[in-house]
Amino acid sequence: MVSRIIPVEPFDLVIFGGTGDLARRKILPGLFRRFVAGQMPPEARVIGAARSAHDDAEYRQIVRDAIAEFMPGAEVDAGRLDAFLERLRYIAVDARGAEGWADLAGTIRDDVVQAFYFSVAPSLFGDLAEKLHKHEIASPDARIVVEKPFGRDLDSARALNDTLAQHFDETQIYRIDHYLGKETVQNLMAVRFGNVLFEPLWNSQYVDHIQITVAETVGVAGRGAYYDRAGAMRDMVQNHLMQLLCLTAMEPPSRFNPDAVRDEKLKVIRALDPVPPADIVRGQYAAEGNQPSYRTDAENPDSTTESFIAMKLHVSNWRWAGTPFYLRTGKRLRARASEIAVVFKDAPHSIFGEDKNRHRNILTIRLQPNEGMDLFVTIKEPGPGGMRLVDVPLDMTFAEALGPEAQEVPDAYERLVMDVIRGNQTLFMRGDEVQAAWAWTDPLVEAWEEAGDRPHPYEPGTTGPEEAQMLMHREGRRWREIRAA
Ligand SMILES: NC(=O)c1ccc[n+]([C@@H]2O[C@H](COP(=O)([O-])OP(=O)(O)OC[C@H]3O[C@@H](n4cnc5c(N)ncnc54)[C@H](OP(=O)(O)O)[C@@H]3O)[C@@H](O)[C@H]2O)c1
Repeated sequence: MVSRIIPVEPFDLVIFGGTGDLARRKILPGLFRRFVAGQMPPEARVIGAARSAHDDAEYRQIVRDAIAEFMPGAEVDAGRLDAFLERLRYIAVDARGAEGWADLAGTIRDDVVQAFYFSVAPSLFGDLAEKLHKHEIASPDARIVVEKPFGRDLDSARALNDTLAQHFDETQIYRIDHYLGKETVQNLMAVRFGNVLFEPLWNSQYVDHIQITVAETVGVAGRGAYYDRAGAMRDMVQNHLMQLLCLTAMEPPSRFNPDAVRDEKLKVIRALDPVPPADIVRGQYAAEGNQPSYRTDAENPDSTTESFIAMKLHVSNWRWAGTPFYLRTGKRLRARASEIAVVFKDAPHSIFGEDKNRHRNILTIRLQPNEGMDLFVTIKEPGPGGMRLVDVPLDMTFAEALGPEAQEVPDAYERLVMDVIRGNQTLFMRGDEVQAAWAWTDPLVEAWEEAGDRPHPYEPGTTGPEEAQMLMHREGRRWREIRAA
């Protein structure tokens, strides 16, 4: 039942920051899985690049260790792993210096797809783009992949776009938001645009409201200094939640191609109303037992940065006028759980009596755990006792619906790296999209900073501050539970 594996074109993929956390945790294990799946052609090569001195053998050992560490429990065939490691090279390159660039220029082939993954601090993106150009390493068809964060406000994002644009065309730039690579997120598009069932109901006439939740149990320890400058708004809402909102709210694109999809997403961002302060709740996790508070984790005793945010948004267009979107994300919450819930309106008239009308259809799209979808429908509770109604889920857990092969579905990074090699930008953010998202975000952040707003403390292991519940309750709505499964 799972998709056929189509090998991609031969490629040279250079991972700048090839010894870093992201490369070891996600990119290299992902490439190994694609290799095992047969998607990497025999001529494909991966070249790790960073400042530290290593020869190929040492780099292969680093990658071998990373695969052991970050693919625990996976059955790794020793022969396949050796064959994969044979594809790897390492070149010591300094993004800011002269070292290594001539070597890299002599290694990269001109007759294969060239991809350069910038898995380094964003402050180095400009240096890398400039050096690739200066040393004439990148062909006109080469692709560059840039990681988040893409700027911290509109000005910095625009400056970064301008720098990259000096050396690369927009069709060569792949801005990663790994949420877009998730299987369920793409299934959201399949469900919306591949079925006749949902699209007629997908509007304010039938949808009461939409909830998007990305809840995490971890705190910010270990990345507190970075996080404290960003907060949940910049770290999660401006990118990941915004992308989920766009895919949920957008009009059907004329076809499933990169610009058609991205044009429609951009229209959603541009249709977002400014959000009044009363519709935003910010929170900060408190200490609990021997678990430190946000401020301790962030090493900033006076921090007013939010580790939680909930907000009510309006998309001002014909489809969504009057249907609010509620967004919520936070650290140290009750469970690691992410979902989009489309809550439909009550039936217009209940033939079963007044309170029997309280049942609502809800379509939930689960990103984690248990990727899949549920459609809650109202049925009669089985057995005698009259017409008692109950809501039951029509469960579409992919692992169950599609059999064991569904477990083999590539993770977001693997899929996205292969899309880069294929030259398919549909699941990557375009420069104007990122800028539009910052243009909407900046005034909200400025408003709370100017007002001296302080986040509400919340107990770890809960669903966030009480005030976030009120955001819903005051309009007679409720957040869905945050549950691990
Ligand atoms: N880690 C994650 O889970 C994650 C998630 C989302 C996004 N990201 C983003 O991904 C990027 C990389 O993050 P990371 O966590 O992997 O960082 P990291 O662990 O600090 O790794 C940084 C890498 O860059 C190399 N490097 C540093 N300065 C360099 C220079 N001047 N020239 C060439 N290479 C240089 C380092 O090796 P040397 O010191 O040997 O040069 C190392 O390989 C960042 O933009 C981050 O925001 C990371």
